[in-house]
Amino acid sequence: MAIKVSTKYAVSEEALRSISDEMKSAHHTLVEGIGAGNDYLGWLTLPRDYDKEEFSRIKAVAKKIQDTSEVLLVIGIGGSYLGARAAIELLKSPYYNQLPKNTPEIYFVGNNISGDYLTEIVELIGTRDFSVNVISKSGTTTEPAIAFRIFKTMLEERYGKGGAKERIYATTDKARGALKSLADSEGYETFVIPDNVGGRYSVLTPVGLLPIAVAGVDIDAMMDSTEKTMQALIADESFENPAWRYVGARNLLYRDAKKTEILGCFEPRFRFMAEWWKQLFGESEGKDGKGLFPASVDFTADLHSMGQYIQEGERTLFETIVTIENPNHNVVIGATEDNLDGLNFLAGVNMAHVNRQAFLGTVLAHVDGGVPNIEISMERTDAASFGALVYFFEFACGLSGYFLGVNPFNQPGVEAYKKNMFALLGKPGYEDSTAALRSRLDA
Ligand code: PA5
Repeated sequence: MAIKVSTKYAVSEEALRSISDEMKSAHHTLVEGIGAGNDYLGWLTLPRDYDKEEFSRIKAVAKKIQDTSEVLLVIGIGGSYLGARAAIELLKSPYYNQLPKNTPEIYFVGNNISGDYLTEIVELIGTRDFSVNVISKSGTTTEPAIAFRIFKTMLEERYGKGGAKERIYATTDKARGALKSLADSEGYETFVIPDNVGGRYSVLTPVGLLPIAVAGVDIDAMMDSTEKTMQALIADESFENPAWRYVGARNLLYRDAKKTEILGCFEPRFRFMAEWWKQLFGESEGKDGKGLFPASVDFTADLHSMGQYIQEGERTLFETIVTIENPNHNVVIGATEDNLDGLNFLAGVNMAHVNRQAFLGTVLAHVDGGVPNIEISMERTDAASFGALVYFFEFACGLSGYFLGVNPFNQPGVEAYKKNMFALLGKPGYEDSTAALRSRLDA
């Protein structure tokens, strides 16, 4: 199993054993598809059952985009962008766009409503050739729809309507929705977000796979390792299963009034994995007045900002640290003649060793301060490890939701802000609430 979980600084083995029956029940609910939201379980066997013809088309289109474009814009929000961004930053680099490469720069747009952000992206593209992958299951989400209007117009002005349609790829529902209708009428190449896969579980569908393949990641290796992880996690009904161990520990801690889980990593390239994880767990578990609050930190940077709170603030936290056993580069620290910073004792030492000691020291300090610690380790940051980690977290999230007693596959709460925003903007159909909202704002 490529993913390992240690709970020795979080919960006792005896405590884990005490919840075996509950874990078993949650496991059966998930793998037998008998729980709430079971019409959204497509992700569970997706690594085996994915559409192989479409997968080949993804690779062919990725090659076409690489050959014809210097920039790819990925338009989407939430589950329609976080996974791809997480993969590219983790597997390539947070500086993927700046580093020398023979693949296009990739920018993520349509994930906010900022005119400044879009203007700057237009400037970044400049006169360079670009393509667009617009991703929206519903096809009506405001943020990506606004961005798509701008970049569709820009493509049509630059390449004409016929040229633009060769550069627009739509990832959306197979039959329904505004984006599907538009794609059919304009003749865009389309990829399918399966009906039974929700946005936050969709990174291993064309939603994530196309942008990830454009960045030059080996998506065959990714899917192969994901299938192996799937088989291992579904088959093992014990605390040897890393998902059981993680889910058991985090729920025991939650019952013990640890209400916030902080996901951290000592590699900055992990930052968007944590953003993806926050959506996955926050949207899946945060409902019915329940759920751990998922937060994230970048260590060691945040030890110099959030470290004080974690060490001594309100004792309602625990940490889950993802460690990467083999970093990509060996960087050895040099000596200086004057040793003004007093660090010559580290001369000749690999930075990976220093980082590991920082991790170990942090764990012990935080545990001493009343912050339990779970460690999730992955071997390296390659495509295979990424697939395994994604599936591990997805499986753990479904399992944890059922353990907690919520439907891990719906998100009714995300509609509230949209209704208010539409009413305040005067969208037809929302007029009834406009006056009441305005008077609350003016009171
Ligand atoms: O998990 C989810 O369902 C959400 O994050 C959606 O992915 C997000 O709101 C985007 O929705 P859509 O793909 O319909 O534009």
